[in-house]
Parts: sequence; C-alpha cells; structure tokens
Amino acid sequence: MAHSDSQPAGVRPVRRVLGIETSCDETAASVIEDGTTIVSSVVSSQIDLHARYGGVVPELAGRAHVELLTPVIDDALTQAGSDRTGVGIDGIAVTCGPGLIGSLLVGVAEAKALSMAWGIPFIGVNHLEAHLFASLLEQPDLGWPLVVLLVSGGHTMLIEVTSPGQYRIMGGTIDDAAGEAFDKVARFIGLGYPGGPAIDRIAIEGDARSYAFPRSLPGDAYDFSFSGLKTSVVNRVRKEPDAATADIAASFQEAVVDVLVSRARQAAADVGARAICLAGGVAANSLLRTRIEEACADDGIGAFLPSRALCTDNAAMVAAAGYWHLARGERSPLDLGANPNLRLVSTA
Ligand code: KG4
Ligand code: ZN
Repeated sequence: MAHSDSQPAGVRPVRRVLGIETSCDETAASVIEDGTTIVSSVVSSQIDLHARYGGVVPELAGRAHVELLTPVIDDALTQAGSDRTGVGIDGIAVTCGPGLIGSLLVGVAEAKALSMAWGIPFIGVNHLEAHLFASLLEQPDLGWPLVVLLVSGGHTMLIEVTSPGQYRIMGGTIDDAAGEAFDKVARFIGLGYPGGPAIDRIAIEGDARSYAFPRSLPGDAYDFSFSGLKTSVVNRVRKEPDAATADIAASFQEAVVDVLVSRARQAAADVGARAICLAGGVAANSLLRTRIEEACADDGIGAFLPSRALCTDNAAMVAAAGYWHLARGERSPLDLGANPNLRLVSTA
C-alpha cells in the first residue's frame, strides 16, 4: 500500500515515519518506510513493574514511560540507521488516545518536541485505528471489504473496513471488553497479570467441556457482553474451590472464543466480506486464531491473523496509521492534547 502518489503537491514527501506508543503499559517506538515496511520496532514492556499489583497502576506506568521512552526511541532510530538528530525521518506519529492520560501525555509531549527540534510534521493517531493498520504491515494487499474483529484490553468491536481509513463500526461490547474479561478471570483464579496469555497457556492442559459457561449474545447482532460470563466463572469457582484451574480456564476461553467467532462470522457474511482480520491483544490468543481460521475456511473467505507481536501494542502500527494520514497532508497542531476516551467513529 504505497501512498506516496497520493501526497499533496508542495508538501515534502513522507517516506520514513517514527511511531511512538505509550497509551498503556508498553513503551514502544518504531520506524517504518512507505507505510508498510518495518525498519525497526522496539517494545519495552512494563509487565514486571505492574505484575505484583495484579494490573496496570496508572501512576507507575506514566513514570516508567518517562524513564523508558528516550532510550526506546534512541534504539529504534539507531536500528533504522538514524540518530538523535532524526536524520532520514520525515514525520512522527504518536498515539493520542484512548489510554491512560498520564501515559499518553508522555508520548505526545515527546512527539511535539522532536517535531519542533527536527523541523518535521507530526500527527496524533487513534490507538484503535492503529490496531486496524497492523495487518497492512504484513499483508498490504488485503482484499476489501474486510471485517475486523478488534479485541483488546479496553475494546471489543466489529468493524467493516472498505479501504484503509474507511470504517463502519458494526457493533461492540456493551460491558466488559474481551481482554478485560480474560484479565479479571485470570486474576480471580490466581493466574496473575497479564491474564490473557496466562489463560491461553494453561487452557491447553484443561478440558474445555468441563463447564458449560454461558454464551451471551445480546439482542443487537454485532454486540458482545462478557460480564455475565465473568460472574458465572466467579460463582462456579466459589461453589467449587477445588475445581481444576486449567479446566476453568479452558471452559472460559472456549465460551469467549465461541461468541467472538460466531459474531464475526455473521458480520462477514452480512457485508459480503472477503476476509476476517483479527486485531488487538486478544488476537494473540491461540484458540481464537485457530477457530477463526477454521470458520473462514468453511465459509470460503480469507482469514488474516497478524503475527502476535503486531496484535499486542507496538509502535509500528502507530507509524503505519500515521503514515497514511501524513501522506494525505494531514498534520496535528502543536497544541494537540491527549484524549483518554478517544473513540473510533465510522468514516464510511
Ligand atoms: O491491544 P493490547 O496489547 O492493549 C490494549 O490496547 O488494550 O491488548 C491487551 C489485552 C490484555 O487484556 C491481554 O490479557 C490480552 O490483550 N491478551 C490476550 C493474549 N495476549 C494478550 N488475551 C488472550 N490470549 C492471549 N494470548
Ligand atoms: Zn492496544
């Protein structure tokens, strides 16, 4: 997907973009070229910092970003053959929401400072839109229309994408996000933080048929609800404290994946999608990946599963989304703020 031909006349062409991501507990920087080639991608996770508290502590996250961001950016620049003067970088993209306000502000302030120091434009990027661009980094020729199942710690959405930048929000969760349900259940059954990968791992040893947890399908065909499922798991464990953790984890995961796959499949059929694409941290889940592949094969459509590193938070996806906006001549003003509640809205 080279957009250089769509760059407005008179505007310095943008080839290399530095992406910066600090919305939650990953400090990340990446340099990409021409929108789709990852030249460098550095992710510093704060998992160890937050693990003992069982979840992300916003104040600690913000402080850690302050400490980590400069070395992470230096690393990404060096690996891309650049340096602190920003040689060879044409634009900067930074996540400006949604996320933790203190964490977002660290990235946004850095992007503005570098933009001024290097005399190049910067653009604020919606983190959710960045997740949608992750797949284009590995498969620039995805067929349209696509249905993207965006499943992360804060969001669970079905989005019809008719071309890059053209979205129609079909539905989403009416309560907990899928990742949030994974994290809360994992904490309750003693698997710690982050819960999604822990459940994914231990579920392999369990029997998913052990417990018939509810599959909640709210009235609207593309919506989700996971809070009833979470409560049901909690009630079951309280009644049966000796239940095997692996069986609980496997049965819970099966219920989440069942619902995600059936709704994504329906959405794809309804819009005549050529493929279903996964995005967001929960897209790293092994069972979800297998089941989506099987469902798409049955339905005769494509399945696109970005590599796990591109599913979870990273800055290459931020740079890819930013590249697309910068190449169209869009720029953010120096008074850009961060918006912890930034939403993804339909553009199509
Ligand atoms: O996209 P992401 O890295 O950050 C947000 O934007 O929220 O997603 C993080 C979420 C967490 O809830 C984490 O538990 C979940 O993704 N996650 C997983 C797996 N890996 C990460 N959930 C299930 N299975 C996994 N393998
Ligand atoms: Zn994310």
